[in-house]
Amino acid sequence: RRSLTTAIAGATSALLAVTAVNAQAARTINLGHTLSDSSHYSVGADAFEETLERLSGGEFEVAEHPSGSLGGERAMIEGLQIGTVDVVITSTGPLGNFVPESYVLDLPFLFKSYEEARCVLDGEIGQDLLNKMSDHNLVGLAWSENGFRHMTNSVRPVTSPDDAKGLKVRTMENKVHMEAFEQMGVHPTPMAFPEVFTALQQGTVDGQENPITVIVATKFWEVQDHLSLTGHVYSPAAVLGSPVLLDSLTEEERSWFEQAAKASAEATREEVSRLERDGVKLLREKGMTVKTDINKAPFQEAVKPAYKIYTDQYGSEMLDRIRASG
Ligand code: PAF
Repeated sequence: RRSLTTAIAGATSALLAVTAVNAQAARTINLGHTLSDSSHYSVGADAFEETLERLSGGEFEVAEHPSGSLGGERAMIEGLQIGTVDVVITSTGPLGNFVPESYVLDLPFLFKSYEEARCVLDGEIGQDLLNKMSDHNLVGLAWSENGFRHMTNSVRPVTSPDDAKGLKVRTMENKVHMEAFEQMGVHPTPMAFPEVFTALQQGTVDGQENPITVIVATKFWEVQDHLSLTGHVYSPAAVLGSPVLLDSLTEEERSWFEQAAKASAEATREEVSRLERDGVKLLREKGMTVKTDINKAPFQEAVKPAYKIYTDQYGSEMLDRIRASG
């Protein structure tokens, strides 16, 4: 009996020791994004988590921080640089403030379709842009997706730049976008996303612009009456990592993060495509008036000067490469 008790005690302490080692070994990766836990970014975060945990055999576990709980996108990118956040899924909205090379992607009407944008981002140009991030104290893991942006407002239906004139519209903290809206006669009001719903609710701004994915995930129908499918710019998202974390990893561990980011991007894009198919119907059901018959030519004409302002400042090399690849 004594030896049985000793054996049980021995097995128990061995089990406790293994559990302790495992508990010690599991490193928590803090992943932040600004959208709700039912959004396309959250679908991407789940895929990241599942892939990283599987590939690493539980060495890493992922804690998702949705809804801007770690701050807006600009604040989270700063967090990556100093290592207070490990992984972020972000639009390119504030990215140009850190990685000016990414501004090219924010030019209005640059891409005509999802296929074209995805093809460029998955090819050499996309990889070059991801590589550039390391010059700016960031790690570019993969290009994910936010979607084509459309305008919403609570003043009037918009089908032409003339209708949009004079509206106060929240934009991302992105000077290429702000410039383009100014050219259209809109008053751009840059603002971090976590403040947008309240600003719309309180009438600080009349409208905002975002993809169907975001309009659905954020329930903007509660504070916006009109949606116009302007598709004025493709909004990529990037899965970014902190150099503080990634530079401390082995090559194998780092490759798990890259694979997890790719799986995340794939899952997000699938969700974007699904919402492109089903989202507008839902928004109509929720009471928004939706203008689908938008003649894009006058919008394109109105924002043309933004291209010159961009090339004067950053040159045309990247833009030419993107155009040549189309
Ligand atoms: O409008 C924005 O700031 C971005 O599109 C959002 C909603 C944060 C998603 O990246």
